[in-house]
Amino acid sequence: MCGLVGYIGKNLSRAPIIKGLSRLEYRGYDSAGFACLNPGDNRLVYVKAQGQLHNLIKQFDQKPIDGHIGIGHTRWSTHGVASQENAHPQFDCYKTLSIAHNGIIENHHMLKEQLMQEGHLFSSQTDTEIVAHLLESLLQIHKKLLPALISLVNQLQGAYALVIILQAYPDQMVVIRKGSPLCIGIGQQEMFVSSDLLAFADITNKVLFLPDQSFALLGKELLELYDFSGAPLLPSIQEVDSAWINVDKNGYEHFMLKEIYEQKGAIYASLAFFRSISHQIWDQVGLTSEQVKNLESIHFLGCGTSWHAARIAQFFFEKICLMPARVMLASEFRYMPFFAEKNSAYIAISQSGETADTLEALRLVNSMHIANIALTNVASSTAVREADGFLLTHAGQEIAVASTKAFATQLAALYWFAHRIALEKGIINLYQFETAQEDILIAAEALENSIEKYKKIIVETYAPYYAQYKKFIFLGRHISYPFAMEAALKLKEISYLFAQCYPAGELKHGPIALIDAETPIFLFSSLDSLVYQKLLSNAQEVKARKGHLVVFAFEGQKELIQLADACFIIPTVNPLLAPLAMTGLMQFFVYHIAKVLDCPIDKPRNLAKSVTVE
Ligand code: M6R
Repeated sequence: MCGLVGYIGKNLSRAPIIKGLSRLEYRGYDSAGFACLNPGDNRLVYVKAQGQLHNLIKQFDQKPIDGHIGIGHTRWSTHGVASQENAHPQFDCYKTLSIAHNGIIENHHMLKEQLMQEGHLFSSQTDTEIVAHLLESLLQIHKKLLPALISLVNQLQGAYALVIILQAYPDQMVVIRKGSPLCIGIGQQEMFVSSDLLAFADITNKVLFLPDQSFALLGKELLELYDFSGAPLLPSIQEVDSAWINVDKNGYEHFMLKEIYEQKGAIYASLAFFRSISHQIWDQVGLTSEQVKNLESIHFLGCGTSWHAARIAQFFFEKICLMPARVMLASEFRYMPFFAEKNSAYIAISQSGETADTLEALRLVNSMHIANIALTNVASSTAVREADGFLLTHAGQEIAVASTKAFATQLAALYWFAHRIALEKGIINLYQFETAQEDILIAAEALENSIEKYKKIIVETYAPYYAQYKKFIFLGRHISYPFAMEAALKLKEISYLFAQCYPAGELKHGPIALIDAETPIFLFSSLDSLVYQKLLSNAQEVKARKGHLVVFAFEGQKELIQLADACFIIPTVNPLLAPLAMTGLMQFFVYHIAKVLDCPIDKPRNLAKSVTVE
């Protein structure tokens, strides 16, 4: 949430900061800002703009500021509307220090009151500005930077990443981390700071992921790290593999479309990786073979699309591993009673590995000393660092806010992992395990082939036609119900059209009253023969009320196909992989509806790729 970039070093800071921000714009894009110290007189200068980064860049024509120490920010508003005043960086009373911030200062009300009583004047509605005034006040009291910072971090509550520059300390940049991600890239006589290493991954691969509850003082060749009590810490600098980071659209109009097309390759790459680690899998996920054999239940945590993947995986684990699987929304989990179970494990699913809700849920499980695994796409993420063990999907960098290939690879990973556990427990044999791996590849083929089959008719006919409607009902049953939820989420977030999802069996208990000529009904079929029969009855209920039915069916499902007003027929796969096979076509269809409506598909309004606030 919010893109944060800082630079201090031998070169001027504006170019690397703007380049970094452009790579992080997916994290927030309602306003942007840049501040630096003017070379020569060290005066703090800044430029801010409402809206996307290009609005900020335009302003440099009038005000071409630059300096060897600078900070930049793209914002996703939490406190205060998107405006120039509320854009970061924020300042103290006399604009002598400047702060860019990610996260939320939870006690900002109390601190603001206190600071106003001391005479501080505020010019924004942000919680960030409070930090600037508080530091101003603490510097007056403590006279020196280090004690002022120790006092600052001990007064701020919430989760935050902060980057600070001060006129009084022109050779030092301050970075602080509590909860929100922050990393430092170490270059040749230069340091980069960012909320995501993507910002500087092409310049250096030497990275310090700031430990939680720590702060650092940076200079062009200086790196001093402290914990919140002021005790020095030894920085643990890592060399990261940035080869997989690709931030180009490769000729596609949107990242989302490119990522839809990358899915088959991403599934293949993920499966190849799982095969390569199959023998050491338990070390990797932080379990022993004995623990796996004794596992009696599995729990999933996640948000948004990752939660939908978990809901689908629940069917995998119950059917394949023959044990109960429970799924919790990470944002709810912390506030529910916790019943610790014996011989259980938690899997926290997160594309980014940085989602605050999921991380907090993971931390809670960790604090109870219950086995936990992070399933994520980002090897350098907080989830990987904090969980007992991890399983990595190999989707490659996902840039579009709407998750596509991450979802597909999560499904592939969870299907594979359920079989790997079943193999360890002796529920399936090696042949069945091999077959399951082949089934994943067959489903990946079906995912891609169905896009090719319906590409023309979607672009030319279906997308323009359905883009005329304002609201939709999505139906699924059994394993296709969570998939229908994912489809409805995808349509909502990129096209802003209203889509309500129901389990098809619930239709007759109320939602059937909504059926009318203005509300197309998207129904996602199942390859389970009993569930299919029930879905067929639900489709008949819709048609009996003159509802307009769009069906995602599988080959051979003649009765359902005949009922449809519009129909997509997908090759049959293993029934548990039906959602994976439907994934590409569903995403391609909703992508084109949003395109007809001329929506900003990669950066939908109000959203951000990585939600690092609770
Ligand atoms: O990075 P995560 O998987 O933890 O993100 C969770 C959700 O924020 C994310 O899936 C969100 O729902 C996407 N925009 C869906 O397309």
